[in-house]
Amino acid sequence: MSNENMTTPDPNTESGSRVESQTSPRPGSEVVDSDELNRPKTSETVVSSRDLDVFYGDTQALQGIDIEIPKKQVTAMIGPSGCGKSTFLRCINRMNDLIDSCRIEGELKFEAKNVYDSDVDPVALRRRIGMVFQSPNPFPKTIYENVAYGLKIQGKTENMDQKVEDALKSAALWDEVKDRLDESGLDLSGGQQQRLCIARAIAVDPEVILMDEPASALDPVATSQVEDLISDLAEEYTVVIVTHNMQQAARISDKTAVFLTGGELVEFDDTQKVFENPESQRVEDYITGKFG
Ligand SMILES: Nc1ncnc2c1ncn2[C@@H]1O[C@H](COP(=O)(O)OP(=O)(O)OP(=O)(O)O)[C@@H](O)[C@H]1O
Ligand SMILES: [Mg+2]
Repeated sequence: MSNENMTTPDPNTESGSRVESQTSPRPGSEVVDSDELNRPKTSETVVSSRDLDVFYGDTQALQGIDIEIPKKQVTAMIGPSGCGKSTFLRCINRMNDLIDSCRIEGELKFEAKNVYDSDVDPVALRRRIGMVFQSPNPFPKTIYENVAYGLKIQGKTENMDQKVEDALKSAALWDEVKDRLDESGLDLSGGQQQRLCIARAIAVDPEVILMDEPASALDPVATSQVEDLISDLAEEYTVVIVTHNMQQAARISDKTAVFLTGGELVEFDDTQKVFENPESQRVEDYITGKFG
């Protein structure tokens, strides 16, 4: 399949350093009371999977995943390296289509529709479910063109200046770049580049934003800016974020999914419950740093 029209970049360009799990203090100690997250709570499910198995060749990466991801909330996916977090995220907008050896069984629905049905156009799907990667990957174009890129492809060029400004404002980057929109996106700092990639993803007005370790290549200040931004984005969008940083999951997510080795989803619940009183001993051991 050609991916030239995609607004989400090729996952094969992902790279960058990784911040491993931080296990002290116990992440639950920082969980914000859900009443303080000034966010409308709905129980409406936007993405769901049932008995989802994923294989790379003969190797099974995910086993029987059942999950219901709520609309306009932040869902965090945590778990040790290799447990299948990125694989699951890529299933949601069919980025795994780009990996030849990858095979998917079971059901994955976006709203009421199985995204693997033969009549689903993956390019159109990715317009509604955008993605931001670990390593900021602006295109070698101006700041303006980076944000305008997806809209141009869709032929939505009316009021472009306003749309670019709105996306940059939503990504908390406007004030820093409004006087340099015609400079290269590559000249921005790492944290600014990541917010530019977030602006690029939201410019096309998706419903869901998938983020695979979006802050792990950033310094603490830039990380904190991106975390604040993610919390704000959940007022408009459904956010699904993979992170190795358990404090980050505890701080910014409403729901947490814990994947463990072997590609199992072992626990999925309100973030506060998962960190403070998990059902599973294996999850308790993982989040308190006894393994992983
Ligand atoms: N393109 C691929 N081809 C073959 N196997 C793959 C591919 N991508 C992932 N895998 C395998 O699938 C399993 C899950 O990988 P995945 O990248 O989803 O894990 P992860 O939880 O995101 O790990 P990390 O925290 O290190 O990013 C691993 O065993 C991995 O080796
Ligand atoms: Mg990963």
